[in-house]
Amino acid sequence: MKKITRIIVFLLSAVILLTTGLIPASAQEATTTVNKKLILGTSAEFAPYEFHKRIDGKDQIVGFDISIAKEIAKDMGAELIIEDMGFDSLLSALQSGRVDMVISGMTPTEERRQSIDFSDNYYMARQVMIVRAEDKDKFLTMKDFENEKISVQKGSIQEEIGQTIQGAQLTALDKIPDVVLQLQTKRVNAIIVEDTVAEGYIDSETVIADASPADSESYAAIGIKKGKVELQAAINDTLARLKSEGAIDQMVKDASILAAKVESGNILTTAWEYRNYYIKGIGFTLLLSALGVLFGFIIGLFIAILRMTNIRIVKWLGTAYVEVLRGTPMLVQLMIIHYGVALTLGVNFSPLQSGIITLSINSSAYLAEIFRAGIQGVDRGQMEAARSLGMNRITAMRHIVLPQAFKAVLPAIGNEFITIIKESSIISVIGMADIMYQAGVVKNITYQGLSPFIIAAAIYFVLTFTLSKLLNALERKLSASDNR
Ligand code: ARG
Repeated sequence: MKKITRIIVFLLSAVILLTTGLIPASAQEATTTVNKKLILGTSAEFAPYEFHKRIDGKDQIVGFDISIAKEIAKDMGAELIIEDMGFDSLLSALQSGRVDMVISGMTPTEERRQSIDFSDNYYMARQVMIVRAEDKDKFLTMKDFENEKISVQKGSIQEEIGQTIQGAQLTALDKIPDVVLQLQTKRVNAIIVEDTVAEGYIDSETVIADASPADSESYAAIGIKKGKVELQAAINDTLARLKSEGAIDQMVKDASILAAKVESGNILTTAWEYRNYYIKGIGFTLLLSALGVLFGFIIGLFIAILRMTNIRIVKWLGTAYVEVLRGTPMLVQLMIIHYGVALTLGVNFSPLQSGIITLSINSSAYLAEIFRAGIQGVDRGQMEAARSLGMNRITAMRHIVLPQAFKAVLPAIGNEFITIIKESSIISVIGMADIMYQAGVVKNITYQGLSPFIIAAAIYFVLTFTLSKLLNALERKLSASDNR
């Protein structure tokens, strides 16, 4: 038991160092280092503007917006840092100062101008409707799209256009590849995107419809926090230089070539080529689950003890804790911790921190019940015997009851560990780069809808299967003394 305490203390301090030391490091750097940093906010799922691509085995964000950003940083003598996030979150990231500028194919609409400033325009695109090739003849005028199922990107001007189509049932999603997937899987019959983007997606099955939205031209400009006139002027200078050199057209061309569909190999080649993504994901999943279990264990034990005291209010609090956490979805708990706490209390947890907190408290509720069952399952006589030998309650608990209880509930705890490894995939929705998240990235790069997830499933299975074998072995070892 002593040893266990020591190990727990050690792990705890390691964790605290890790989560407090590592994560805010980037935030600190921004203010303390001498060389200037320019933080770019973008939503890298918008080829050829900005997208993920595996280059020399490493994941990189590329595209003509990124090339422009690099030129701006170069002219300012600053180091460019890219923050990838949902398109829908870009405006608030700029307003809250998390990023210095937004380059994301963003159209400077009147509505957006209310909350942020824009540079000069650097690009012009047209809106198009993409439909499945077999439906091409059904959609000849914009009227034909009325009452249709249409998908668009959330928070984009395409969503606004969709809202003007009578009776259209809109599905607004975060990422363009998912929007395209909606069309391919026949969940919608049309999508609205920009022509430059459409080019990367049309093939033998999907085509640009003859009809296109009225006033279909839209511009792209760089978003800046309101009132940052110097930055705005610097950006405009770079844009003017690039335009006079004809550089932007060239950047668009290069980016389009880069964005061209990678020919999709089979699942094994995908697994091998993108192994680094998955390996990184495994690291995060294991870290997240291990810490979730560790803290869940400690909190759970504490709650179990609360529930077994004779003080009514304490008992009631323990029960309420367990019931509430077991009775609400983990996804909801995650949203409250990650966004709710940030908005109301101003505490901004990183995705890793929010993930650990959510998993810990969620699993602590289940573990508390397991512990309680285990402790109550130990014969009362054990406690009485220990007490009559002169041990006090706490010592008796620690040396006599808990070890026996622990052995009895080990299989149940093992199940909980396995559950946590699988459930941790939920944390990917807040941008935690675990296995599930990486599968999504690989899907977006390869345009494959199935293989990336089969690979993820295989990895999760190997992890949980190994763990369950290990736990079996541990169980056998612990029960060896019972079989004398
Ligand atoms: N131009 C459109 C808009 O401003 C779409 C931009 C989407 N950009 C992106 N990176 N997903 O609403």
